[in-house]
Amino acid sequence: SAAEKGGWSSFMRKEVSEQPEAVANTLLGRIVDGAVVIPELEDFGDEELRGIRRITVIACGTAAYAGMVAKYAIEQWARVPVEVELSHEFRYREPVLDPETLVVSVSQSGETMDTLMAVKYAREQGARTISICNTQGATIPRESDAVVYTHAGPEVAVASTKAFVAQIAALYLFGLHLARVRGTLSPEKLAAQLAELQAVPDKLQTVLAQGERVGELAHWMADTRSVLFLGRHVGYPIALEGALKLKELAYIHAEGFAAGELKHGPIALIEPGQPVFVVVPSPRGSAALHPKVVSNIQEIRARGARVIAIAEAGDAAVLPYADEVLRIPLAAPLFEPLLAVVPLQLFAMELAQAKGLDVDQPRNLAKSVTVE
Ligand code: G6P
Repeated sequence: SAAEKGGWSSFMRKEVSEQPEAVANTLLGRIVDGAVVIPELEDFGDEELRGIRRITVIACGTAAYAGMVAKYAIEQWARVPVEVELSHEFRYREPVLDPETLVVSVSQSGETMDTLMAVKYAREQGARTISICNTQGATIPRESDAVVYTHAGPEVAVASTKAFVAQIAALYLFGLHLARVRGTLSPEKLAAQLAELQAVPDKLQTVLAQGERVGELAHWMADTRSVLFLGRHVGYPIALEGALKLKELAYIHAEGFAAGELKHGPIALIEPGQPVFVVVPSPRGSAALHPKVVSNIQEIRARGARVIAIAEAGDAAVLPYADEVLRIPLAAPLFEPLLAVVPLQLFAMELAQAKGLDVDQPRNLAKSVTVE
């Protein structure tokens, strides 16, 4: 009903706008005196966390992209190998599991059947399991050794938005906790990362304020038949998520690629007028990667692509080549995905609305897939 949407035209628009609170509430009470405090993990003593040799993240859909983002952060901070696998692929390939493997499932609903079966399987094989979940008392947390809830509030729109940023926030908290316990980050570095995390809600507000621009862009592009998304490092899962959102909501063919893979195939798709979103890493934080992505932009532009860059405020290197630049506030590299995803969510939602589609209930999709 209109009342439930609190004055918003759709649940999705409401949920997109609630992302600052979704992150803030997920962090609330969990950062105390410069340390991460997660009482829910009391069963996982420091000794056990130091003994973990490998983390496998299992999830489906948008939740799996949150896992992919977190892989970069957890490996960098806690120096433990992280793999991310789709639950349905994991479950049926006889994965190698043991008590030193930690399986972290990510699920907004906590009811996705493929993820539930994968968690049960992992436990049967002797792995320890943690659930990142947005729904109190759901089945997956009940079947796991511990649960770290995201506090995004109920998500009604089928396409996941605020749960995604909350999942990344929760996974980052876990990664920083692990780093402290394992002694892989100095107290100063840990404090700096926690400060970055706590700054995310305000920065999300800044990105949301540009919604109108993205809306105009989407309206101009309402007849587009195919959109490509490029990203690198943590921008890669964001490219995948941007493409997923556009498929889900606007029924437009969309594909995300790792920017470095361009010359190994995807560049053959570029023809005059092809829209390409490029998630550009920060020139300050990612000095090695920024010029590589800018040169990718030059390459596709030379072949006629219409480039929409998502770049840090003040990054002038993209200006000569991009047809459009959507800005995100300055943030350390690992925190950029939390911001860069927002214009992509808005673009998909606005384009779907320009086409007259129902953004809360896209055709053929379910909010929670409770069958295998
Ligand atoms: C469905 C939804 C997606 C969601 C995925 C995983 O496909 O449409 O938006 O990302 O399930 O859901 P979960 O509840 O496990 O996060």
